[in-house]
Amino acid sequence: MASPTLISDTEPWKELKAHMEEIKKTHLRNLMSDSARCQSMMVEFDGMLLDYSRQNATLETVDKLYKLAEAAHLKEKINRMYNGEHINSTENRSVLHVALRAPRDTVINSDGKNVVPEVWKVLDKIQEFSERIRSGSWIGATGKALTDVVAVGIGGSFLGPLFVHTALQTDPEAVECARGRQLRFLANVDPIDVARSITGLNPETTLVVVVSKTFTTAETMLNARTLREWISSALGPSAVAKHMVAVSTNLVLVEKFGIDPNNAFAFWDWVGGRYSVCSAVGVLPLSLQYGFSVVEKFLKGASSIDQHFYTAPFEKNIPVLLGLLSVWNVSFFGYPARAILPYSQALEKFAPHIQQAILLEILYLPFVSMESNGKGVSIDGVPLPFEAGEIDFGEPGTNGQHSFYQLIHQGRVIPCDFIGIVKSQQPVYLKGEVVSNHDELMSNFFAQPDALAYGKTPEQLQKENVSPHLIPHKTFSGNRPSLSLLLPSLNAYNIGQLLAIYEHRIAVEGFIWGINSFDQWGVELGKSLATQVRKQLHGSRTKGEPIEGFNFSTKTLLTRYLEASSD
Ligand code: F6P
Repeated sequence: MASPTLISDTEPWKELKAHMEEIKKTHLRNLMSDSARCQSMMVEFDGMLLDYSRQNATLETVDKLYKLAEAAHLKEKINRMYNGEHINSTENRSVLHVALRAPRDTVINSDGKNVVPEVWKVLDKIQEFSERIRSGSWIGATGKALTDVVAVGIGGSFLGPLFVHTALQTDPEAVECARGRQLRFLANVDPIDVARSITGLNPETTLVVVVSKTFTTAETMLNARTLREWISSALGPSAVAKHMVAVSTNLVLVEKFGIDPNNAFAFWDWVGGRYSVCSAVGVLPLSLQYGFSVVEKFLKGASSIDQHFYTAPFEKNIPVLLGLLSVWNVSFFGYPARAILPYSQALEKFAPHIQQAILLEILYLPFVSMESNGKGVSIDGVPLPFEAGEIDFGEPGTNGQHSFYQLIHQGRVIPCDFIGIVKSQQPVYLKGEVVSNHDELMSNFFAQPDALAYGKTPEQLQKENVSPHLIPHKTFSGNRPSLSLLLPSLNAYNIGQLLAIYEHRIAVEGFIWGINSFDQWGVELGKSLATQVRKQLHGSRTKGEPIEGFNFSTKTLLTRYLEASSD
């Protein structure tokens, strides 16, 4: 008999389905009373601690999940990824973001060629270039040093670098290295974003980095042309050579745009856009801002997780455990969403980045997870008879507590990732206060998972003499799953680790579901329809062409827009 195409046809999947009905009968409150179980659900690696004891799971569940991993050939799929096989089959490409942060002497082959030397060639070029810019030996058209950088790019060519930049912005070492420099991003084609990105900047002291894997993305190319005009109208067209550089896989188009190919930083088609932060996409702008040595620590952190993911047994493998638990929550419990809740303001752009990595797998939202696992068919094109992918969203604690946590506590069940940091980047202790600011923050980090897991019963409320009419409102059902990840600190190295953990978790989910986490066809339809509208707007505005080829709704909206904006 041919082996089943879909994971849901396997015995371990069916066993987990039945097992879930059993688990549903046990409240987390009871599961948490078993200390031996809790201890077995804690994993340490390199100073970080993962605690997944607040999942609706027993040790038997975890065993069954390992069996599911076996049935999905998880280990083989991980190996195939690291071996450079074309696991992104719909685009016929390897998936080798791990090569971007591999030590110089590593051998990682794609199509029979070791790609690590090429990676380091670009890293060395970035180091040299960023040192020239930072030291002032590369000067702008009017002889001034380039102290400010605007990175123009969207999606994966923006969100990852923004996340890392935001996370480093208050790291003491990075702060020191960034003194006197600014890094800004221009992603949205909205002219408001253009204005925000350059307001207060002087073209004489600004370097524009155009970041686009394809160098064809409509928004990025229009923004790049807009900034090229900003520079050349202020400093003359020849200034572009000194003030614009590019990051792309398409060096032919870079040159056509007018950027000297010597000032282009390459990456490769085996790097997915949303997995590209460790390529020149992130490394160049971040090195310009913080210096290459800080960014190298970030790459080392990511690489440490790559090793861990590749070598650790499943029961100690943080990305594997996280991925399996996501599959458990999404496909068995049917929870459609996941909240990413870092108790660190420095991680405010982490959830937006991970959203892309994951969401492209369920629906199109601009994030890593949703771009990766937002899919409706298996890698063989078979419609999935189960739910895959999740809606990732999040906010740093405690801010989120004052907005959407109400829903998480008493409304929908949304599995939560709590991410805490032992040592704050910027500790503050105000004399006379009971605790430091960071302890105050972390009090919430420790309290929230228990509030979700235990809840509050009507009996407890009665004992507290709560008025009977308020009891239904003040009751918390509890039994809401979460996991806690405690990092020792938040420096470039740990930020790299956190990124790689989530990248690999997405891969694990996709490998189990049997989908392709590395393509993103779902975003193409919207792009082609926008092309049609763009053509219409141009034709109507320049030649008065009638609006044709749209449904009643779009035609009405377009007519209103054209009429109201024509004067
Ligand atoms: O939105 C889809 C997408 O293709 C992303 O995957 C990618 O990161 C982004 O667009 C930008 O593409 P590019 O880097 O080619 O400009």
